[in-house]
Amino acid sequence: MPDLFTFIDAVRREKPRDVLDIHRTVSPKYETAAILTKLEQASRFPIVFFHHVGQSAFPVVSNVCGTQFRLALALGCSIRELRGRYAQACEQPIQPELKREGPVQEQVFIGKDVNLEILPQLVYHEDDAPRPYITAAIIVARDPETGKSNLSFHRLMMLNENTTTIFMARGKHLDHIYRKYESAGESMPISAFIGVHPACSLGALYTGTADTEEYDIVGGLQRSPLPVVKCVTNDLHVPAEAQFVLEGFVSLGKQVEEGPFGEFTGYSTGTARCPIFTVNALTCRYNAVFQDIVGGLMEHLLLPIPGMEYRLLTLARAAVPATTTLKVSVPLTVFVAMKKQDDSQPERVIKALLDSDIYVKQVVVVDASVDVSDLRQVATAIALHTRADKDIFIKRRCLGTELDPSCESPEGCTTKTGIDATLPLNGMRPVNKNRVPQQLLDSIDLSELLQAD
Ligand SMILES: Cc1cc2nc3c(=O)[nH]c(=O)nc-3n(C[C@H](O)[C@H](O)[C@H](O)COP(=O)(O)O)c2cc1C
Repeated sequence: MPDLFTFIDAVRREKPRDVLDIHRTVSPKYETAAILTKLEQASRFPIVFFHHVGQSAFPVVSNVCGTQFRLALALGCSIRELRGRYAQACEQPIQPELKREGPVQEQVFIGKDVNLEILPQLVYHEDDAPRPYITAAIIVARDPETGKSNLSFHRLMMLNENTTTIFMARGKHLDHIYRKYESAGESMPISAFIGVHPACSLGALYTGTADTEEYDIVGGLQRSPLPVVKCVTNDLHVPAEAQFVLEGFVSLGKQVEEGPFGEFTGYSTGTARCPIFTVNALTCRYNAVFQDIVGGLMEHLLLPIPGMEYRLLTLARAAVPATTTLKVSVPLTVFVAMKKQDDSQPERVIKALLDSDIYVKQVVVVDASVDVSDLRQVATAIALHTRADKDIFIKRRCLGTELDPSCESPEGCTTKTGIDATLPLNGMRPVNKNRVPQQLLDSIDLSELLQAD
């Protein structure tokens, strides 16, 4: 079955320079993050395999999903087909297959034998809390009412050998599930798995309705049922081929200071109050590799995009069928293109999207002739088409994210903006885009012209 190892092997075969092995011992404190930052500053995005990190017996692999090429390779398609492939997986989900055993339970540490300090103790940025973080943990929890399980990434700050904090953004599904346990007066059982094939990471980042089983999306993405095993100390299921699993529960009531932590925005925004995750069991493979994602680098930005774009495009098309495409390329911002049929349509899409997700803070709508993946074209459309008094929509008191450095409320309450950057259909003056006759354009043979020159 596809797992982290088979994926890295596939990358080594397809593009050997896309995997960088570092055999010397590196420090877990800042050095792994510094190496990845330095590579990214030089526009290099390899998977980095750190074979020796500090005192830990476990190697670290970082930046697994750091390029579109690798995401496409993971899903068996081209970069151009990525969005369609994601949509197909969401529309044709495949249920996981429960196995009796799996490599992730080759080694089992329970109760007093749990020691999170055997894991690489990674510290990232100078202004971060001086504690190690686990950044690539996918949390599985079960909704106590519907019985559906949910997957999502959550940063875990290690407190001691068997506890971490867990950061759960307000309004997202894990927070929603936690509140249900809270109102029933029960702690929330969770398991955190680390080290998976990118299809699993992309499936966990599906952002649809709470009753969708994200394991089924993972199955759809890899075109086969995901093998899962039951956890050793709770009833949750985890990928049989993962590298590590931490099993335990999030307690009610007590919250501790967490952070600061450098996030996907490129900023850290102070400390938060977070509940505690107590780990009852740690299981792993014999040859486990610890997966890592450096906050704010390209991988962190790229990974959520397929899931977000799929859902936002569905919502935009439901609001205005004339929506042609959509792009999430900078944090908290969505660019939408449409062949508008009347001047009210951009505002309808803006309204539908601003409320749809805490991570949507700005929506810019352009005409279909504008390439939404070209920031220069989008900025030009804003400059030339937008009339600030008529085409900019301000929405106050929205639920955004506290990770937004401009957010003034600790709960993430913020003001959102929509910009209609489409050309008005019935402007005061006739406006036409510059055009030379297409027939002439087609008839010009550029190579002949340049040769003659
Ligand atoms: C690397 C990475 C780390 C993340 N860390 C957190 C986190 O600490 N807390 C959080 O609430 N969301 C975090 N997210 C975002 C959620 O995983 C994401 O919004 C997810 O889709 C939410 O799932 P849901 O739709 O089931 O609510 C992270 C995403 C990535 C890619």
